[in-house]
Amino acid sequence: MVQVVHLSKSYQLRPVLNDLSFYIETGKRVALVGPSGCGKTTLLNCLGGIDRGDRGSIEIHGCKLEELSSEELTKMRRENIGTIFQFFHLLPTLTVFENVEFPLQLLGVRSAERKERVLELLDRVGLLHRVKALPTQLSGGEMQRVAIARALIHRPSLLLADEPTGNLDSVNGAKVLDLLAQLSDEYHITLLMVTHSHEAARICHTIFEMRDGVIMEKKEIR
Ligand SMILES: Nc1ncnc2c1ncn2[C@@H]1O[C@H](COP(=O)(O)OP(=O)(O)O)[C@@H](O)[C@H]1O
Ligand SMILES: [Mg+2]
Repeated sequence: MVQVVHLSKSYQLRPVLNDLSFYIETGKRVALVGPSGCGKTTLLNCLGGIDRGDRGSIEIHGCKLEELSSEELTKMRRENIGTIFQFFHLLPTLTVFENVEFPLQLLGVRSAERKERVLELLDRVGLLHRVKALPTQLSGGEMQRVAIARALIHRPSLLLADEPTGNLDSVNGAKVLDLLAQLSDEYHITLLMVTHSHEAARICHTIFEMRDGVIMEKKEIR
């Protein structure tokens, strides 16, 4: 499971995360909702090992992040965590295939296996016909499906998504959500997704409502 205990963080003495605690059972999907500026992205960055809390503990599937050196944290992130953003963050000079392959290159996976895994996952997200395209040649929905493949190619145990449908129309947003639900079930991935959309919360098991750096309410929805 993913467990956060008494996590606090300030920016220039201004508290952003305020003694925050919660846990997510392995394989469950949680929607994180709350007003702009309440600390959602900061929390995701701490869980993803991009940022660190000032106090408290973050444990991800048995690994306590605050006990890791920055090298160990980078390794843990590359091996166990996937991330999806609102604005896709694909590498613009790399093709669809190369974008999805990149995390496996960082892990030193050999070429033949990389090719097999990338093509299999691009098939799963419905983009096998776009392998040679550059990100600028894709629609928003296609870019987000590439980003999903890139986030899952190394088979992470935790997927962090920051408003993944925020820049998509409702049809493409629904496709992306269906994929996230299917793939997280199939690969038994824990998902924490920041969202403003009730549609997005539909695929989740629980909704966390956040305000002023704390989780105010946890609603079970199925
Ligand atoms: N790197 C940073 N330096 C200083 N302040 C920051 C930084 N990142 C975020 N903040 C501040 O922390 C608060 C929470 O931001 P954020 O986590 O992005 O909120 P949310 O994602 O819920 O909109 C905001 O007031 C924001 O201005
Ligand atoms: Mg944010």
